[in-house]
Amino acid sequence: MDKKDIVVKFAEPEHAKYADLIVRLIYESALQRGTGIAKRTPEYIAQKINSGKSVVALHGDRLVGFSYIESWGHGDFVATSGLIVDPEYRHLGLAGAIKAKTFELARLRFPFAKLFSITTSLPVMKLNSRMGYKPVTFSELTDDEEFWQGCEGCKNYDILLRNNRRMCLCTGMLFDPQQPLPPKDHANPYIMKVKNSINKILHLKKG
Ligand SMILES: CC(C)(COP(=O)(O)OP(=O)(O)OC[C@H]1O[C@@H](n2cnc3c(N)ncnc32)[C@H](O)[C@@H]1OP(=O)(O)O)[C@@H](O)C(=O)NCCC(=O)NCCS
Repeated sequence: MDKKDIVVKFAEPEHAKYADLIVRLIYESALQRGTGIAKRTPEYIAQKINSGKSVVALHGDRLVGFSYIESWGHGDFVATSGLIVDPEYRHLGLAGAIKAKTFELARLRFPFAKLFSITTSLPVMKLNSRMGYKPVTFSELTDDEEFWQGCEGCKNYDILLRNNRRMCLCTGMLFDPQQPLPPKDHANPYIMKVKNSINKILHLKKG
């Protein structure tokens, strides 16, 4: 299969027909991984699609990937959620492409919001880190009740409650648009080597 034949784009209302399939893919993957997951209904997914808050990956007419965004705390925070890639289409870099498109959508629609995701998935942590997300405690995320109520369907919800919502099995990751970018040549080994060589020559000349 060629990744070139797969289109990753902002979802449109015509894609709401895939809502049942998306819910099934998310549910079956969670069962397979043995992890908890916030349960979503097809109606909830269709609403995300119809309100222009989703990204789909399509191979012709076949839906092969999905993710959506939602704003919380009166728009101060935006969560990226529900990332799924069809098992037959994994390891092609699709999750990376969907994450990048979801990030673009969130920045377009909510340019001043902090972006976050909570996840137990190593690939997702990897992709988030590359985009500039940092791991944080839950205290840095939204305190919007409705967001945390979304965890109720997760099998680990009792752990979240026992810890007064301060921590759980998911890792919280946050992208703060106000955060300054790290200096580009910081600790670049090649630049350090050239600098050291120049210093050595100057030192020898002095001596
Ligand atoms: C997680 C998931 C979205 C990854 O999709 P994918 O299209 O196969 O991922 P990509 O091909 O874009 O790979 C992204 C990175 O993760 C790594 N990766 C992918 N699957 C992995 C796995 N099972 N274990 C470890 N690393 C993995 C890839 O090697 C790649 O890293 P690299 O760029 O350093 O090589 C997919 O496996 C999935 O749908 N899983 C079930 C649902 C899920 O876990 N969603 C996340 C909930 S928060």
